[in-house]
Amino acid sequence: MVHGNNHRAHSKVAIIGAGFVGSTAAYALTLQGIVSEIALIDVCKKKAEGEAADLMHGMQFTSGTHVVAGDDMKLIKGASIVIITAGIGQKPGQSRSDLLATNVKIFKELIPAIIKHNKTCILLVVTNPLDVLTYITLKLSGFEPCRVFGTGTVLDTARLRFSLGEYFEVSPKDIDAFILGEHGDAEFAWWSQARIGGAPLDTLARYDQKQLNQIFNQTKNAAADVIEKKGFTNFAIGLVIAKIVRAILSEQSRVFSVSTYQPEVAGVKDVCLSLPTIVRLNGVCDHIPLILNDQEYGQLRLSAQKIRHEINQAESML
Ligand SMILES: NC(=O)c1ccc[n+]([C@@H]2O[C@H](COP(=O)([O-])OP(=O)(O)OC[C@H]3O[C@@H](n4cnc5c(N)ncnc54)[C@H](O)[C@@H]3O)[C@@H](O)[C@H]2O)c1
Repeated sequence: MVHGNNHRAHSKVAIIGAGFVGSTAAYALTLQGIVSEIALIDVCKKKAEGEAADLMHGMQFTSGTHVVAGDDMKLIKGASIVIITAGIGQKPGQSRSDLLATNVKIFKELIPAIIKHNKTCILLVVTNPLDVLTYITLKLSGFEPCRVFGTGTVLDTARLRFSLGEYFEVSPKDIDAFILGEHGDAEFAWWSQARIGGAPLDTLARYDQKQLNQIFNQTKNAAADVIEKKGFTNFAIGLVIAKIVRAILSEQSRVFSVSTYQPEVAGVKDVCLSLPTIVRLNGVCDHIPLILNDQEYGQLRLSAQKIRHEINQAESML
């Protein structure tokens, strides 16, 4: 076995599901040299092996991440993060909620199989419907809530910052704005605390709430638009996964709107949804205090109620 990066400490992640999202996440991790080993696992062994071979053929151009692949869950041994992308995705015209029954059925078998081979990892959920499956993963794994979370609205937030950047002609990196709540149709923009260079958006020369509402709608419909055009989304979510993995393994303590367990939020008990959260080496134990106006509180409550309703449906299938 040839390793191209001897200076890097051994660090391993596993990706379950070698489809569009899983293989693109592996590519992003490989390009960025974030980990020394990736285990790529799929029920379709050939698919996982093919993606791994293709990734490894580029090793001379990267920092030498080794990729092992197959359908055997034993491959996740030693992984500090297990990224779950297994399951069906949306077809044009479908919502994320439409995937619930099929993907809950997959998780019912998958989560016990994961924890049989790795009881110390962080579980990062990507499969939709994201918030419901993060909750189901938490319950089926029995892990403490700090170690189970979903990519949540990190992708939606990136889409919002991209569009705001285009509109205000500022780099998305300098925009402090979030999409919160459900990773789905009930998500909302946290406009009251959005800032560019420390300034609230309504103090900027180009501020126009109608334009911002349009940007929010574009953001909310972005996945559906891309799926309508190319059938799936993979690049931006692959980068989101790589960013979160880097934040954990490099102990960067970054703030992301990941989906985490909330014993009670906006009067709704026992759900997972996205709030600004500090992502650390040990997981997601710390949230940023939420300052919401009345409208945003109502939107958060709607998100939580919708997710709670779908969790009830999911639990009846376990
Ligand atoms: N959270 C987000 O922001 C976000 C973004 C994009 C896609 N997604 C979701 O990610 C999921 C995957 O999307 P995709 O486009 O990669 O789909 P895909 O169909 O390309 O890949 C899914 C893979 O999972 C595999 N699989 C199914 N059951 C399995 C099991 N029990 N164990 C191991 N592998 C299994 C399939 O064989 C397939 O290769 C979908 O639910 C999609 O909606 C989430």
